[in-house]
Amino acid sequence: MTDDRNPPDSLAGDTVGVVGLGYVGLPLALAMAETGYRVVGVDVDETRIETLRDGDSYITDVPDGAVDRVVGEEFVPTTDYDRLSEAVGVSICVPTPLRKTGQPNISYIVDATEELAGVLSPDSTVVLESTVYPGATEEVVAPTLADNGHEVGEDVFVAFSPERIDPGNEEYGTTDIPKVFGGVTEACGDRAEALYGPVFDELVRVDSATEAELVKLLENTFRSVNIALINEMATIAHELDVDIWSVIDAAATKPFGFMPFYPGPGLGGHCIPVDPKYLSWKADQHGVATRFIDLADTVNRSMPEHVVDRVVTLVNDAGTAVPDSDVLVLGVAYKPNVVDTRESPALDVISLLEDRGASVAYHDPHVPAVEIGAQTYESRSLSPAVLADQDCVVLVTDHDAIPVDTVAEHAPLLFDTRNATADIDAEHVHRL
Ligand SMILES: NC(=O)c1ccc[n+]([C@@H]2O[C@H](COP(=O)([O-])OP(=O)(O)OC[C@H]3O[C@@H](n4cnc5c(N)ncnc54)[C@H](O)[C@@H]3O)[C@@H](O)[C@H]2O)c1
Repeated sequence: MTDDRNPPDSLAGDTVGVVGLGYVGLPLALAMAETGYRVVGVDVDETRIETLRDGDSYITDVPDGAVDRVVGEEFVPTTDYDRLSEAVGVSICVPTPLRKTGQPNISYIVDATEELAGVLSPDSTVVLESTVYPGATEEVVAPTLADNGHEVGEDVFVAFSPERIDPGNEEYGTTDIPKVFGGVTEACGDRAEALYGPVFDELVRVDSATEAELVKLLENTFRSVNIALINEMATIAHELDVDIWSVIDAAATKPFGFMPFYPGPGLGGHCIPVDPKYLSWKADQHGVATRFIDLADTVNRSMPEHVVDRVVTLVNDAGTAVPDSDVLVLGVAYKPNVVDTRESPALDVISLLEDRGASVAYHDPHVPAVEIGAQTYESRSLSPAVLADQDCVVLVTDHDAIPVDTVAEHAPLLFDTRNATADIDAEHVHRL
């Protein structure tokens, strides 16, 4: 990090744009509107734009009131990129999934940047927020803008700033998480600083866009690797007949040199299972092997299978053949208290149990229906009778709204992948 920089005066009061109004873009757009910017929010999804125009939200962490308060003059949701022509700065928050081959799919960024390049006014700043491989801002976004007659660092300014929100986390929101950013040139960094300065409590400027990209990938790869380690520890502990959760709690009393991570049924969501693959893809381009990252991915992806193996053993031990069994999965969102099922390990747990012949249903208070392969499942309501009817209940996602005590009381067999039953000591309750 350097500090001999010269950001221009704050831009607050001007028009800015946010492209892609999802989990990342919508909270950012609202935060910018609350700061005093007039925000044009562009999304290709007409239903989302209509919902926002009505003052409603489709993101759990964003209450309807937060949209309603600013929509109209301060926040303008639209599908029309031309509305960005007045913007002094635009943040791009479109998806960056993987292709079926496991390679990065940055086509949404390419599309959005090409659209933007045609409408941007001179002197504007473009900040990429989508998670990408290191170098993407410089190698993809900047040249696309340059191809359209702009000169990067002269009449258009380009930076990367990773989004670090944690959906469902009530302690930290968009603006109170320190905002890392880096410009493609020094002047680009200055402009990004002026754009984001009024919005975020703390800015953390790094030396380049590529450095900022690597910050994000370090953070999420760190999580992936540590979760894989503790998942492996959990399987060892089970064989040793030791409670991994107690081991972690005791280890976490060490005041230095240890940070607790917890095992679970596998990784989910749009970030932790995906982002390390962006890094390993880029490393491969440079001939660098990413053995650690790849191994973590393998261990984490094996967890649903491990969960199913444990469930099958428990059902068999209870005297029931799995093909004759009814199993209820609790929670299909990828983590507690969110509606998002992307990459959720619960989906793998359900289809692996079906592959073994079990009849599987699910209950999730936040997810009314979910598609797995060609099949659509609908959330079953939870009652003592439904619980008592199962051969096994598998707690995959411990939403606050799932009544764990009631589940443990009525389910004949409960397998808990999240330690939600820590306080329950009963022979029919088993933990990962
Ligand atoms: N969800 C998270 O918790 C999280 C956290 C940190 C970083 N990220 C990263 O942020 C980026 C966005 O993720 P998200 O979860 O907000 O995705 P999302 O799917 O919730 O939202 C993306 C939005 O972009 C829109 N979109 C797609 N193509 C577009 C285009 N060409 N023009 C305009 N709009 C377009 C989609 O309709 C959608 O509304 C990804 O790179 C992701 O990895 C996500």
